[in-house]
Amino acid sequence: MAQEAQTISRRGFARLLGAGAALTALRPASVLGTRASTSAAPIFKPAAAGVVRLSSNENPYGPSPDALRAMTDAFSLAWRYPDEHEGMLADELAKLNNVPEEQILLGNGSGEILKVAAAAFTDARRKMVVADPTFEAIGRHAQANGAEVISVPLASDFRHDLPKMLAVSSAGLIYVCNPNNPTASVTPKADVRSFLAKVPRETVVLVDEAYHHYSETPDYERQTWDSVNIMALAAALASLRDTAQVSEGRRKNSEVKSYVCSQLDAMGLKYIPSAANFLMIDLRRNVKPLIAAMRERGVEVGRLFPALPTHMRVTVGTRPQMEAFLSALREVLPYRDA
Ligand SMILES: Cc1ncc(COP(=O)(O)O)c(C=O)c1O
Repeated sequence: MAQEAQTISRRGFARLLGAGAALTALRPASVLGTRASTSAAPIFKPAAAGVVRLSSNENPYGPSPDALRAMTDAFSLAWRYPDEHEGMLADELAKLNNVPEEQILLGNGSGEILKVAAAAFTDARRKMVVADPTFEAIGRHAQANGAEVISVPLASDFRHDLPKMLAVSSAGLIYVCNPNNPTASVTPKADVRSFLAKVPRETVVLVDEAYHHYSETPDYERQTWDSVNIMALAAALASLRDTAQVSEGRRKNSEVKSYVCSQLDAMGLKYIPSAANFLMIDLRRNVKPLIAAMRERGVEVGRLFPALPTHMRVTVGTRPQMEAFLSALREVLPYRDA
């Protein structure tokens, strides 16, 4: 595939440019800083004070401090093409996942991989098959490609209905988000394995495991996929080497999630068992006005997912953030603690 050709040319470039890049790395100050900055004003405004952002499933503890330091260190190389640096990351990821380096495709976030996959495997003749609800991005990319998008409702226990997804004719690409966004539910590995064994050769399956680190159920299968600039590569490499980042993040997420669940239980609210860093809570009424009411109280929660119109998706933030979430929720609900 084109992927292999890209890898070869990337390596070729790296060999050709290796000496030059190494020199640049040794004397960045002589290349940089020949003009003084004309403005001291920050480009981005800081986040609005007092707003608790639990809307986008971001990690409330932020990146690894090692990644932030690695990006600062890589700053003097930021405008260079990332040739051998890309190779370094692909190499480490290949070793970590026990696959050949040719099977690693780096993306500018996994969002880029979704776009590339939709472009490669869907069009007016090859359909895109997704669950409903699921993360919407890939369906929108496929639609932009002129593909028909077939949405298959999740099963009643919120796993993907893989037999129904498989039954769609002329499928170019089947998207399986596991754990699924927005339901935080897992499609068990036995289901995924028997489904993969039956998928026709002309159909590609993309398993999006954006939230796999948070999944604690043994029923979950781990597989991994991953135009990237030098600073991002430095951050990725430093993050990979900071082994405590993932385990600590998972531990804190689990602790705070248990606390939120116990409070929701006490409030008599049901939620889908969560295998990720967010919860889908059934508020038993149209959630749209509640999302707006939460925002008025300074708490941003997830968008409406039309397939589950009474559910609110909330990201698991820090304990103080979740306390703010719960107190705003108690205010906006027409009923209080049971
Ligand atoms: C399931 C899923 N996949 C992919 C992404 C994109 O993530 P990123 O581009 O930040 O890696 C998201 C973001 O919300 C997501 O929920």
